[in-house]
Amino acid sequence: MPYSATPRLGFVGAGRLARCVARAWSRAGYPVAAIASRSAGPARELADQLPGCIVADDPQRVAACSDIVFLTVPDDEIGAAANALQIVPSGSGARAVVHCSGATPVDVLAPVRAQGGDIGGFHPLYLFGGIDGDLTRIQGCSVTIEAPPPLAETLTGLARALGCHPLSIPPGGRMLYHAAAHYAASFALSALSETVSLWQQLGFSEDDALRAVLPMLAGTIETARDKGLAGALAGPVSRGDAGIVEKQLALLDGLGGDHALLYALMTRRAVELARRRPVPPSTGALATIERAVENVVAGRGAVPRPTLGSEAGE
Ligand SMILES: NC(=O)c1ccc[n+]([C@@H]2O[C@H](COP(=O)([O-])OP(=O)(O)OC[C@H]3O[C@@H](n4cnc5c(N)ncnc54)[C@H](OP(=O)(O)O)[C@@H]3O)[C@@H](O)[C@H]2O)c1
Repeated sequence: MPYSATPRLGFVGAGRLARCVARAWSRAGYPVAAIASRSAGPARELADQLPGCIVADDPQRVAACSDIVFLTVPDDEIGAAANALQIVPSGSGARAVVHCSGATPVDVLAPVRAQGGDIGGFHPLYLFGGIDGDLTRIQGCSVTIEAPPPLAETLTGLARALGCHPLSIPPGGRMLYHAAAHYAASFALSALSETVSLWQQLGFSEDDALRAVLPMLAGTIETARDKGLAGALAGPVSRGDAGIVEKQLALLDGLGGDHALLYALMTRRAVELARRRPVPPSTGALATIERAVENVVAGRGAVPRPTLGSEAGE
């Protein structure tokens, strides 16, 4: 049987994600019926912003007065929270329980399915800050949905109500999907942190460095949107400037630590992109770059060689 067009929603956990999605759904006309959380304060603060929403003193009460319960607790708490819920699909309470984690398998909700309830995953590809800005910044993002029908259709409608694009992944694909998504979020910050730490050796503060490189990063992202990853690739690898790459690897090798290794692994991916460019650099130049990279990865150290390309960098 399909879900109501505007099912009653309940939340267990009143953290950063819940603060955004519960308010957005309430504004979009979905009744948010109840919220329970470990500490009463955040649950009360959120419920006060949602017409008709009660603060429940235990998750079972949330299940009793909603159609779909979202477990918006830390990942390690999802299994225990699901285990503690009693679901009676033919009753007046919840018939579905959904978690919002990208990495945790949906099967962690199996105790709910064993009681005849529907289970699903609803993972927004967005870093929630717990701030008002989340309500507008989430628009245009994607939400990865893993659920059987008719819950999948309802979750798709909820994603659209946030202004997001629904995305579906095959069952069991969550861990790979989530590991890969890090590169577009936390690991982008890790790459910036490497820029900052290297530029600090030139006397720049983190603020100086970010002011200088964030507009370049924003431009790179826009170019990738227009021209794809290979088309947007710039820098020495895109031109086949093997001499520059070798010298930079040697310089970073000399700094110790894992600076050269990180640069080498990133360069490996850049070489793959360079090969896919409409006009790729010469095969010989890319082979030289790959040899230098593999030397570093194999722990043989970067070997400085005579300059092959121009001295100009970006
Ligand atoms: N934040 C993100 O950017 C983001 C993005 C996509 C998906 N997610 C997913 O969304 C889920 C929630 O993440 P979040 O960042 O919103 O977490 P969060 O900010 O740490 O909030 C978690 C909330 O759950 C409450 N809580 C903890 N244990 C509980 C329990 N056993 N029973 C009831 N409430 C409990 C916490 O209460 P206290 O107030 O007492 O600590 C807090 O209100 C996670 O599965 C996460 O993977 C998060």
